[in-house]
Amino acid sequence: MNTSNPILEIKLPDELPENPEFDPQYRRAPNRSFNLSEKDTILALKNALRYIPKNLHKKLAPEFLNELKTRGRIYGYRYRPKGALIGKPQEEYKGIKEGRAIQVMIDNNLDFDIAQFPYELVTYGSTAQVCQNWMQYRLIKKYLEIMKENQTLVVMSGHPLGLFPSSRNAPRVILTNGLMIGMYDNPEDFQRAQALGVNNYGQMTCGGWIYIGPQGIVHGTYLTLLNAGRKYLNRSDDEDLKGILYITSGLGGMSGAQGKAVEIANGITVIAEVNYSALKSRFDQGWIGKYSNNLEEIFHWVEDYRNRKESVSIAYHGNIVDLWQYAVDNNIKVELASDQTSCHAAYEGGYTPAGLTYEDSNELLKKDLTEFKKMVDKSLRRQFELIKIMCDRGTKFWDYGNSFLKAIFDAGVQDIAILNDPKNGFIFPSYVEDLVGPICFDYGYGPFRWVCLSRKDEDLDKTDIAARDIIKEIWENRPIKRGQDRDNYVWMRDAKENKLVVGTKARILYADGEGRVKIALNFNEMVRNNEIGPVMLGRDHHDVSGTDSPFRETSNIKDGSNIMADMAHQSWAGNAARGMTMVVLHNGGGVGTGKVINGGFGLVLDGSERVDKIIKSALDWDVYCGIARRAWARNPHAIETANIWIRNKNGNGYITIPEIPDEGFVENLVKNSLEK
Ligand SMILES: NC(=O)c1ccc[n+]([C@@H]2O[C@H](COP(=O)([O-])OP(=O)(O)OC[C@H]3O[C@@H](n4cnc5c(N)ncnc54)[C@H](O)[C@@H]3O)[C@@H](O)[C@H]2O)c1
Repeated sequence: MNTSNPILEIKLPDELPENPEFDPQYRRAPNRSFNLSEKDTILALKNALRYIPKNLHKKLAPEFLNELKTRGRIYGYRYRPKGALIGKPQEEYKGIKEGRAIQVMIDNNLDFDIAQFPYELVTYGSTAQVCQNWMQYRLIKKYLEIMKENQTLVVMSGHPLGLFPSSRNAPRVILTNGLMIGMYDNPEDFQRAQALGVNNYGQMTCGGWIYIGPQGIVHGTYLTLLNAGRKYLNRSDDEDLKGILYITSGLGGMSGAQGKAVEIANGITVIAEVNYSALKSRFDQGWIGKYSNNLEEIFHWVEDYRNRKESVSIAYHGNIVDLWQYAVDNNIKVELASDQTSCHAAYEGGYTPAGLTYEDSNELLKKDLTEFKKMVDKSLRRQFELIKIMCDRGTKFWDYGNSFLKAIFDAGVQDIAILNDPKNGFIFPSYVEDLVGPICFDYGYGPFRWVCLSRKDEDLDKTDIAARDIIKEIWENRPIKRGQDRDNYVWMRDAKENKLVVGTKARILYADGEGRVKIALNFNEMVRNNEIGPVMLGRDHHDVSGTDSPFRETSNIKDGSNIMADMAHQSWAGNAARGMTMVVLHNGGGVGTGKVINGGFGLVLDGSERVDKIIKSALDWDVYCGIARRAWARNPHAIETANIWIRNKNGNGYITIPEIPDEGFVENLVKNSLEK
């Protein structure tokens, strides 16, 4: 066999890569702590060595062991390409157009300006990785370079299993991350599998390779806050957050969007952040207007801006618990509040307990996990007490999808769950349960996005204008006007001016089913006419159909099926069957392992008529699979939206619509029967 023929064998080269270099200006992932048994340590090393040519084992095995002992994971730092990675213009990559497009997306996820811990392949959320290690990264890239139009790359938790013959209309890449056998689906086994090198936590768009920087979340946060104003403070559809104070925490990957979103929504915010480096990046980027570690100074600024009715985003360099303590002690008027510490991974360094600096907290995590957990629990309990006091005084608080309420429950506050059981929900709403679920997802609005693969500003400008005009037309022709269309129009109108792009030229838009299909067809036509280069379409998993999670995306599903994960699997399988370029299914996105199954897709618009067909069937399916399930759960807006879809399909599509018994009928029947 000719082992040098790359067509016959895909493997890493026999030469030892140079020693890794770490630029100190970029943040490093905390030590995930080494606690494998001797037997498991042997297994982890053997697992990593599977990627390494045998002649290098003697050299690399001790290095890998050292990485495992000092960082809790084997990242294979030597295999990281030197210097900066960016999502380059697609023509600079090798391979077929889909292979090149996917390489753009992977590199964009690892861009120094985007990734939270770029050396550890972590894009956001403290623990979300593109793949587990740099050996996998290199192999995936090799496969994408040689992939043919009738082959499919299969990636299991970051590991490229191989390139398999399929067909032109099959996905080019099928990804799964962190899917576990039910009885092992718990944080301890999940982390053990990660340390063994057989499990990747993909979060949502990170392991799905379609993260577009924090812009993706600015739009969602802007919509959530505007709708919080409407729901909790009786603001009208045309009003914004003028004069309103929102208190929260976190200036990391997603949480870092809060300052900018509040400014776009015209409000005032104070955001606590313990990590100075994260705070400073957001400030340098212009996503935070002011910062201080002095709470007295901060609340002088708040009063000043309130009086002037101007918007401002202020970062507090310190712990959120101290910020709440100050608000309670000084009787500060706070209208809206949430929290965006990484509570989905509270015991892995996602939450810094009160009383410790960020640095000390990381040290303690490394040295004494039991003590660290104790401090996290105590801090969470205190934070909850303070928030409760503020809520009694009129503050409206909601869980921001970070498992904050579940973390407080886990910290020992059982009565935070209704009837002491999280299955029944919590005494505070989650932002999806109250806001995004009924107001966005049940109508089909969700975080649709696109990336101009040419990396040209003018391509993005052209797509922005096209999408804005389509949204305007839909808004104007809607028989009953909706605030969601108005918010989307304002978003697209001001998108360029808001300077939200980091990395590849990308845009997010909470379009509904009709909007997504119309925009995608229009873009594909623009590609066909050479007005723009190719485009990658996708969405966050946090959407109408992609995710089943009783703690978040499906928290407003009230027919008991909120504990089922059928929809996410059906959405994923349906997208694969209809020819999306890339389909991905994860465990644990956003709220942590065992609490969610989530999936997404990528679709390369190449201007072909073949892709027009995929848009019409797959994009439509991707939204209406979720609408159908939400309608079956008796959600009124979803029933309304499903009925519109059925009418528009005119006999070419059907959704099963539930019968709703008369108000009180079943309750009375059951009551009378059980009383007898
Ligand atoms: N923004 C959204 O719309 C959204 C949606 C879904 C989920 N989330 C969840 O929000 C959480 C945050 O996401 P991220 O990507 O920003 O994570 P991240 O880890 O990048 O950022 C969290 C930040 O919180 C800071 N922090 C931790 N403990 C703190 C404390 N006690 N006081 C002050 N600051 C503290 C950390 O230093 C970090 O910078 C995650 O759990 C994520 O799943 C957010």
